[in-house]
Amino acid sequence: MGLARPKPCAEEGRIGGKKVFNFMNTDTITDIVRQGYSHKEVVEGYARAREIWPEEKFVFDKFFKNVGHILDIGCGGGRTSFSLASLGNKVTAIDLSPSLIKAAKERLVKEPANIEFFVKDARHLDYPDNYFDGIVFSFNGIGYIVRKEGKVRFLKEVKRTLKPEKFFFFTAHNLWCINQYFPGNILRVLKILLSKIFRFNIREKEYGEKYDDKPGIEVPYIDIKPKRIWDKIVKDSGFQVALFNSKYGIRDKRDFSLFRNYFGDSNYLFFVLKK
Ligand SMILES: C[S@@+](CC[C@H](N)C(=O)[O-])C[C@H]1O[C@@H](n2cnc3c(N)ncnc32)[C@H](O)[C@@H]1O
Repeated sequence: MGLARPKPCAEEGRIGGKKVFNFMNTDTITDIVRQGYSHKEVVEGYARAREIWPEEKFVFDKFFKNVGHILDIGCGGGRTSFSLASLGNKVTAIDLSPSLIKAAKERLVKEPANIEFFVKDARHLDYPDNYFDGIVFSFNGIGYIVRKEGKVRFLKEVKRTLKPEKFFFFTAHNLWCINQYFPGNILRVLKILLSKIFRFNIREKEYGEKYDDKPGIEVPYIDIKPKRIWDKIVKDSGFQVALFNSKYGIRDKRDFSLFRNYFGDSNYLFFVLKK
């Protein structure tokens, strides 16, 4: 049974010194995300998920084979955690959703591996400096880290807990990718633009934020940035880019190109960052 949706919580927004917006704050949004990943059908789906995409395998084999201790953030039912452990690593795997961590632990009982699962919010990585030999946030989970500033703060924390010269891998949706979400993305950007011009209250604070109030769904909130903003976020975090491509670019063994990588439902951006 679904939990009651938390009430929107005000966060001050100012334009020209005047308080104009009633944005939702990041804790409230993260609660909503947790609820999305606690619905029974969603949990069952991720508990069953086993398949590693060929493009993920490419990245894992290149950057995460026998590296040591890996942190798998937003591990869900453990899809990538088991794969990373099978490559000779010790894996600490964390997720926001207690139901998903329960499912992952049940899988671990049946399929013993060098993994420990914990319920933990990725926004609070309470690990020592220079601690992990690799960090992963797979399947666009970083879209649930709220807004640009939250993403930069998160990446800086990832960098702090990563050992020097080691790698962090994540994938992300691209806001301007032409796919089934494109018309909705355009409309949402227009809505935000109009709210700034005419100063009416909406929940979205930044371009790319998307709320969906349908009951029982996996994604009641996500923040999808365009590639240009991702480049800025990565630059501000202080990481070096070790590999960047689209999913289809890796699949087709070609470089990222402006024309060929802005199409396709699952043509996610792939980033491998080096500390
Ligand atoms: C699309 S699912 C991917 C699950 C898994 N990595 C996989 O590839 O099968 C995104 C996951 O990120 C988790 N997540 C979202 N925000 C999080 C946060 N702040 N801290 C930890 N996990 C988070 C969700 O609970 C969900 O399990």
